[in-house]
Amino acid sequence: MKTLIKKIKQKKELQTIGDAYVLSTIKKILAQNPKLKKVVEEKRTRSKEYKEAIKKVREKLRTEYGMFSENLSAREQILNKKNKNLAKELLSLHPSTKERLEMYPHIYKKIFAITGKPKKILDLGCGMNPISYPYMKTKAKYYASELNKKDCEFLNKYFKITGINGKAFPLDLKKPLLLKKIPAVDVCFLFKVLDTIEKKGHKLAEEIIKNVKAKWVVASFATQKLGGRPMQYPYRGWLERMLERIGYEYKIIKEINEIFYVIRKEVKLWDATPKK
Ligand SMILES: C[S@@+](CC[C@H](N)C(=O)[O-])C[C@H]1O[C@@H](n2cnc3c(N)ncnc32)[C@H](O)[C@@H]1O
Repeated sequence: MKTLIKKIKQKKELQTIGDAYVLSTIKKILAQNPKLKKVVEEKRTRSKEYKEAIKKVREKLRTEYGMFSENLSAREQILNKKNKNLAKELLSLHPSTKERLEMYPHIYKKIFAITGKPKKILDLGCGMNPISYPYMKTKAKYYASELNKKDCEFLNKYFKITGINGKAFPLDLKKPLLLKKIPAVDVCFLFKVLDTIEKKGHKLAEEIIKNVKAKWVVASFATQKLGGRPMQYPYRGWLERMLERIGYEYKIIKEINEIFYVIRKEVKLWDATPKK
């Protein structure tokens, strides 16, 4: 299955989709097409049917994963309706944010209980997450960055329609020095981003965390394995070791499908009694 997932994700517009999501789509398609299923199980990678399976899965991903494909009509249509459930409907379009729908009403409360209510927020590799702004219960200025321009244009339209004081702009996180050019903020979100952009090692994660001008960085990670089963050990040991080495303290918030590291960039011992 790993080879098939890799092959399917060779198309540029599908590369940011999580492997677990691709796998569940493969399973759906194969369940509907026993002939294709047999060929895939037999690993007949050169056969006509194997190629057809790839094509069908890609087609389905393109329509379901509107956000990062050329099929932008679903989100545009919802946005233009301007109804009361705008945020909820838009968040349902994308797997990461859909999964968080139950969590959104309480997760920001938990995060801000640690960081304090921010006046400025930066959301890196933001996807659809900025749509969840109403759940933050804040009037904070919101900076959001995504890889492609179209997603940013859409988010800026959403900010305008909803009156949110926000600005979305394109930024490639593989160039972490660019982070120095972004205004300083209180809290920076890195939700499910570090696992997405790093394939080998964690140098980039370290550069991003160090370079971003924020008092706090909140990095989150999926806690489900490929196929949807929960990870036995959902913590990111590499991140904990790195933070200890560079001297940043952190607290962990563990939710059902996601783990959040709330990282303090300013040096302060959590339990130290304030000096008089
Ligand atoms: C799993 S999604 C998470 C989206 C969002 N942060 C959330 O949690 O809802 C990973 C995001 O990283 C973005 N991304 C991937 N590579 C990137 C890069 N090189 N620079 C900036 N963003 C990137 C993708 O476009 C995608 O929105």
